[in-house]
Amino acid sequence: SNIPVLTLDGPSGSGKGTIARAVAEQLGWHLLDSGALYRLAALHACRQDVPLDDEGALAALARDLPAEFRQDERGEPHILLAGEDVTWQIRTEQVGDAASRVAAIPAVREALLERQRAFRQPPGLVADGRDMGTVVFPDAPVKIFLTASAEERARRRYKQLKEQGVSVTLASLSEEIAERDRRDAQRSAAPLRPSRGALELDTTGVPVDEVTGQVLARVKAYL
Ligand code: C5P
Repeated sequence: SNIPVLTLDGPSGSGKGTIARAVAEQLGWHLLDSGALYRLAALHACRQDVPLDDEGALAALARDLPAEFRQDERGEPHILLAGEDVTWQIRTEQVGDAASRVAAIPAVREALLERQRAFRQPPGLVADGRDMGTVVFPDAPVKIFLTASAEERARRRYKQLKEQGVSVTLASLSEEIAERDRRDAQRSAAPLRPSRGALELDTTGVPVDEVTGQVLARVKAYL
């Protein structure tokens, strides 16, 4: 495809989500939050009482996921599941944990592949996830892998959850994040790892604006 894609992969709390949104906005490109699809699949499974180890049922459910991505009048993104606004529900650690279990199933990943690729529309796409550069958009002209120290990633998630009014302790959050990262990095289907040719950026202690600037510079050098 001639439509440009910027892939932004990395572990949770590496800053991907924030950077992806800022870069997509500045470029006027579409945005794919692929993690939201796995979160939606997990939430949908819980609501339909589908056990998280029933691989066939989970894949079928992922293939027909009744999900919609919309923007309100103010341009704020909303995520709907079967018509219900679940923008906030899917952000809990519980759903994140369930998402990483569902995401380890190859048939579920396969079921979500075409839906993700359909986001590649003119004038371009910023794709945020774990396997955007390695599996979903291997031909992307610009690939970036974001990292940050484990402590910093836990602190960022802690701050985000606090702002959303979710009560957690930093210690338990650190453990949950470490566990989820381990699962994402060690699974056999599309494990979290930098794609060949990806630029690795460590965002520990680097302000968001600065990381955004570095990413934009990389994209503009290509364009
Ligand atoms: O990025 P986010 O925390 O929303 O992702 C939730 C989970 O979905 C991750 O822990 C990971 O297991 C899974 N995921 C994935 N591949 C992606 C994006 C997310 O496996 N491209």
